[in-house]
Amino acid sequence: MNGASNPGKGAALVVAAAAVVALAAMAGCALFEDERTSKGRKLYRHYCMHCHGETGQQAEGFNWEHMPDPRPRDLSESASMSTFTDEEIFNTISREMRDTSLQAVLDDENYFAVETMPTFRHTLSEDELWAVVGYVRTLHGGSLTFDIEGRRAQLESKFREAEAARDQAQRAMDAALEKQEAAEAAAEAVRGDDEDDDEDDEDDEEEVVLPEEDAYEREQERFDVARAAWENFSKRPRMDQVSRPDLTASDAARRALAKEGEHLYFNQYGCHGCHGIGDAGGRVGPALDRAGFRLNATWVYRWIRYPQGMKKHTRMPNLGLDDHDARAVTAYLETLRAPKPDKPIPPPE
Ligand code: HEC
Ligand code: HEC
Repeated sequence: MNGASNPGKGAALVVAAAAVVALAAMAGCALFEDERTSKGRKLYRHYCMHCHGETGQQAEGFNWEHMPDPRPRDLSESASMSTFTDEEIFNTISREMRDTSLQAVLDDENYFAVETMPTFRHTLSEDELWAVVGYVRTLHGGSLTFDIEGRRAQLESKFREAEAARDQAQRAMDAALEKQEAAEAAAEAVRGDDEDDDEDDEDDEEEVVLPEEDAYEREQERFDVARAAWENFSKRPRMDQVSRPDLTASDAARRALAKEGEHLYFNQYGCHGCHGIGDAGGRVGPALDRAGFRLNATWVYRWIRYPQGMKKHTRMPNLGLDDHDARAVTAYLETLRAPKPDKPIPPPE
């Protein structure tokens, strides 16, 4: 008897091989995962898992049950998730936060109007956002069809081309300016050296802008745009350090601002998806019931405008508040002065 003539043994090998493949698939292919998927997985675990769960299922993330409606959908459910294009998911996680109490915002079909789903456009690079989209795809057994490498190559080559064109325009401009100066010097030599006359002449002369100067300006602008797009792709957004605001205001102005801030807190920035006030709200960040006692307003303003500037890897995304909105939300948090609880509040998980 030999192995080759034993059909049972051959079949067993095939079954074993299939089992290995199936096991690897079940383990999320962690073993065979490519670099981008593992980058996406890390980012997902850091920024998304508390609300969406490790495998994307509902009620899995620790924050899920504390969230207001609508709670995160099941990202592992293929039937509905596969109806979204990669671009749609990208747009959801990188949109600007808008006021979802406005009918126009709700009616905008191209806008994902759930305020408690935060945006990550001010926190992650475009490359990272795509990596997360790719990872979300794996949660429902799909894969990314968007060509990230193509996009990277396109943005990078546009940037290099614009740089070369700008440099060339600069050389052309320098040469033209030099020529113009030489011509002026020659003209001056012909006119002779009557100092007074000369000065009058110069005053009368119109400032001529050479076409090469115009061309350079245009190329410089194109270069700035291409560089911004390339940096936006390859680097996380960075802001200048937020300077200390002057928050003094009359009581009436402060009350009006706080009212506006409360609206923004719930309807535009969805802060309650992650922070609790009383029993309501998420648990990703600390409860803010007593923010008005505990926290310094200047600090709060700077934190909510640019959390990453104060703590690089915080799970709180930068939600893109401008100066006005940050002042309003800060004024609202100042009004939160709940009495001390009898029992200590459990620390955030
Ligand atoms: C504070 C909780 C929270 C965090 C953090 C969060 N999400 Fe969400 N997410 C939600 C909520 C709420 C919704 C809206 C309900 C729904 O449609 O699933 C949502 C919806 C989604 C959807 C479905 C979009 C659609 O069109 O229906 C995707 C995809 C998604 N989130 C991806 C992510 C990714 C990726 C991250 C991390 C980068 C993330 N979310 C972080 C709360 C969160
Ligand atoms: C995706 C979840 C998330 C969202 C959305 C979010 N935060 Fe946070 N926030 C956090 C986390 C996590 C921390 C803890 C920061 C840390 O130490 O990294 C925090 C910290 C804070 C703190 C400091 C609290 C303290 O006691 O130290 C304030 C204030 C704050 N957030 C306000 C806001 C406001 C206002 C909004 C809405 C504009 C908001 N947060 C949106 C997660 C979030």
